[in-house]
Amino acid sequence: MHRFHRHLSVLLVLCLAFVTREALASVLAIDYGADWIKASLMKPGVPFDVLLNKDSKRKIQSSVAWKNDDRLFASDAANIATRFPTDSFSSLKFLQAVPYDADAVSFYANVSTAETVETARHTVALVRKDGTVWSVEELIGMQFSYVKELAESLAGEKVTDVIVAVPSFYSQFERDAVADAIEIAGLRLLALINDGTAVAVNYAMTRTFAKPEYHVVYDAGASAIRASVVEFATEKGATSIIVKGVGHDRSTGGTELDRRLRDLLAEDFKTKYGKDIRTDKRGMARLWKEAGRVKAILSANTESRVTVESIAFDIDYKSRITRAAFEEACKDLHSRFAQPVLDAIAHSGLTLEQINSVILFGGSTRTPMIQSALRAAVGDNKVATNVNADEAAVLGAALHGASLSRQFKTKDIKISDITPYDVQVSYQAEGAKPRTINTLVFPAGSKVGTKKTLTFKRKEDFKVTMAYKTPPAPGFPTDLLEVDITGVAEAIANLTERGAVDPVVKATISLSESGFGSVPEAVAYGEIKDESIAGKLKNLFGKGSSSEVSAEETESVSDAQASPSASAEKKKETKKEDTIKLTVTPRFPSIAPMTVEEKRTARDRLRAVDAEEAVKRRREDARNSLEAYLYRVRDLLDESSPDAPFMKCSQQPEREKMREKLEETFAWLNSEGEDADTAQYLDKRTALEILEKPVVHRYTEIEEFPRALNNSQMWNWSTRMFLTEAKQNLTQEQKEGVQGRFTQDDLDGLEKTLKEHESWLNEWVEKQKSVKMNEDPVILTSEMKARAKTLENHLQRLVRKRAPKKPKTTTTTTSSTTSTAAAETETASAGADGSQVPVDDARPTTSSPDPSSTTSADGASETKSKHDEL
Ligand SMILES: *[C@@H]1O[C@H](CO)[C@@H](O)[C@H](O)[C@H]1NC(C)=O
Ligand SMILES: *[C@@H]1O[C@H](CO)[C@@H](O)[C@H](O)[C@H]1NC(C)=O
Ligand SMILES: *[C@@H]1O[C@H](CO)[C@@H](O)[C@H](O)[C@H]1NC(C)=O
Ligand SMILES: *[C@@H]1O[C@H](CO)[C@@H](O)[C@H](O)[C@H]1NC(C)=O
Ligand SMILES: *[C@@H]1O[C@H](CO)[C@@H](O)[C@H](O)[C@H]1NC(C)=O
Repeated sequence: MHRFHRHLSVLLVLCLAFVTREALASVLAIDYGADWIKASLMKPGVPFDVLLNKDSKRKIQSSVAWKNDDRLFASDAANIATRFPTDSFSSLKFLQAVPYDADAVSFYANVSTAETVETARHTVALVRKDGTVWSVEELIGMQFSYVKELAESLAGEKVTDVIVAVPSFYSQFERDAVADAIEIAGLRLLALINDGTAVAVNYAMTRTFAKPEYHVVYDAGASAIRASVVEFATEKGATSIIVKGVGHDRSTGGTELDRRLRDLLAEDFKTKYGKDIRTDKRGMARLWKEAGRVKAILSANTESRVTVESIAFDIDYKSRITRAAFEEACKDLHSRFAQPVLDAIAHSGLTLEQINSVILFGGSTRTPMIQSALRAAVGDNKVATNVNADEAAVLGAALHGASLSRQFKTKDIKISDITPYDVQVSYQAEGAKPRTINTLVFPAGSKVGTKKTLTFKRKEDFKVTMAYKTPPAPGFPTDLLEVDITGVAEAIANLTERGAVDPVVKATISLSESGFGSVPEAVAYGEIKDESIAGKLKNLFGKGSSSEVSAEETESVSDAQASPSASAEKKKETKKEDTIKLTVTPRFPSIAPMTVEEKRTARDRLRAVDAEEAVKRRREDARNSLEAYLYRVRDLLDESSPDAPFMKCSQQPEREKMREKLEETFAWLNSEGEDADTAQYLDKRTALEILEKPVVHRYTEIEEFPRALNNSQMWNWSTRMFLTEAKQNLTQEQKEGVQGRFTQDDLDGLEKTLKEHESWLNEWVEKQKSVKMNEDPVILTSEMKARAKTLENHLQRLVRKRAPKKPKTTTTTTSSTTSTAAAETETASAGADGSQVPVDDARPTTSSPDPSSTTSADGASETKSKHDEL
């Protein structure tokens, strides 16, 4: 069974199970282009938008590079190509799952200065200057991992679920390569979505369709041009997007235009200076960058300056180029720019007249020759620029990803996509003369997310091959997987013995929503005669359901039931014993997806790089922080004003010792400290901090003292007020002979605590007053607060005390009428009796010992802790 199919079904179950209280996981969407990565994060509480790059750009260059030992990403990585042409890796999308001898690899050699090499899987890897080899999946995995980090810093939590937009023409091999890179990056693939379909989702997000509309999404990207014909309809509040036809051209696109322009400039250079720039990798990298810049200028102007200082051979390349010359160099492509649209329309069975609009998407739609070719082909009035040409796909993918994860309320949009390639199943026919039978199971244009059942009259184990009818791209293989179906003889014998008539083998062939083909199941099946009336009736119903499609006499193809589980159940009810599960063993005869082991190795390699970088970063941080600290201490010591806090709070000998240590540390940092490790930097810092600490301590105590004193006096005063009033009440009560809230003992106890507090305060505050600023304080503000807290707690205990119950009728409501405020007070001061007095900032804000003031303070902290949990 193909792992992807399994993956999706497991996921579905998980979603259903956790839909209740499980923490809302965010969903990351990635549109990985040959030039640019766009990403978007769906997370509750985070505004839905594209992810910003480290320098707040809305798109991220698809590059990874090394500057000596430092790994770079995005524009840093792309730009470094002009200095380290074999250590900068861009346009990797062209190499996903590509067999090493395919055309795509020689094309890549024409657009990149990086070196390629063949992997053990016969795909492509790239070689760094130092000889380190990284597979395409690993390099793309690094970029996915980089995007994951960006998303995590925005989300403030781990991000694992991801949906990736891929070209509709991506074969299963390429889809596997994307899935592998995602897993290498430590992400979990929710789904793949075709980029044209994602644009359609974005388009439908803000629209409803009173009657069905047909639009073409025309996507001119860097790596290819493609088009999808999409039907939009809204019925009963739900919008459906049905892809009706697709078309593509893998050999036109922005990169090919860049290449043509670069070659034009290379020729121009040769003419001008008599030198071949192609022999110089740095020069070629510089020219490549310049071609991209000039192409953008020519999109808006008819002519552009070309300037590359010291491009190569000590030459400053200066020239001019016209748009006309550029377009002339691309003349053979003109007829191909619009062809994918026409192909997609033809494929859909519609006519151009039925198309409401052609929606432009992709950076290359800004290139005038591409847009004019399209306008000429479909008519100006059909061309629509009503989606964001860079971001619509990633935003649509994010919305779809969110709807798949079922944790978000999103607009109800159902999508139905198709496969662009004929998928067939092949097997050897039985008989005297072995011959291969090919059954077209999913013709191009078939819906994805469907299953079919193939029926075989077999008595022995056999093998089926699932394959594209033709290679999906030049140099690509056709075979997707070979599946051994075993256990046939035993199962057939078993069924026969139990009275089944002509038992057969039924194999399920699946094409998942994400475009992965698999053979998830095969069974032996036979109808065992049920002689009861009910059985006869059921058999009658059972028979009508399989429609024979195959021309082959013994084999047949039928659509799996719309709701397979329901039909399976029905069968189970009638004849439990008439199917026997067979063993299905898939193998990948051509470009296999990476094995679990290969992916683990790759992930470990990436993690090792990450860990190494983290160590480097920590060391850098420690070094920088030590250096910054040294400068700060030097500024403190150099302070000329005697009124500066540091000067006021320190003594001459202390400053001398610090100065000595400071100079020693500076000297160390500039000599052996250059190559020190993190711990040494931290130690050096600590050594100096120990000397500074007493000064800092004095200063903070001086700062804190007035507040601590105010707090102590406040409770002193409040307690006194309370006692005075309570004593008056007690006297009055005694006179009246009634029992009041407080006893004499209560009040005496509080008085005692108050006195203790007062005398301590009096004594030590006096002592502290004679302490100089540059001497250590004799009392700590923390102790002042703790003692005030003791008093406060004693006071609160009395304030909370309930009046004695009157002997008259008691109702159960007395206890429940205890106000919430009182209940809160109780929780708030829980632990107040503990000998260890918590020091907090809860100070009374009014002059009365209002218990609600402490309540609100604690209430606030309670709310805060709840926030922390969320
Ligand atoms: C790459 O460049 C060479 C020389 O310019 C050319 O002959 C070849 O056809 C190019 N390959 C592709 C795939 O563009
Ligand atoms: C057929 O298979 C079933 C279950 O696999 C087993 O219980 C039964 O004994 C088998 N019958 C024969 C006749 O082999
Ligand atoms: C003491 O605290 C009260 C209330 O918080 C405040 O109004 C007053 O200004 C403070 N006095 C001093 C000296 O800090
Ligand atoms: C405590 O309060 C009383 C009056 O309420 C005052 O006389 C006394 O000075 C205060 N003690 C301190 C140390 O603030
Ligand atoms: C004193 O008695 C009055 C009137 O009953 C009451 O409102 C007040 O809370 C009492 N004060 C104290 C400190 O118990």
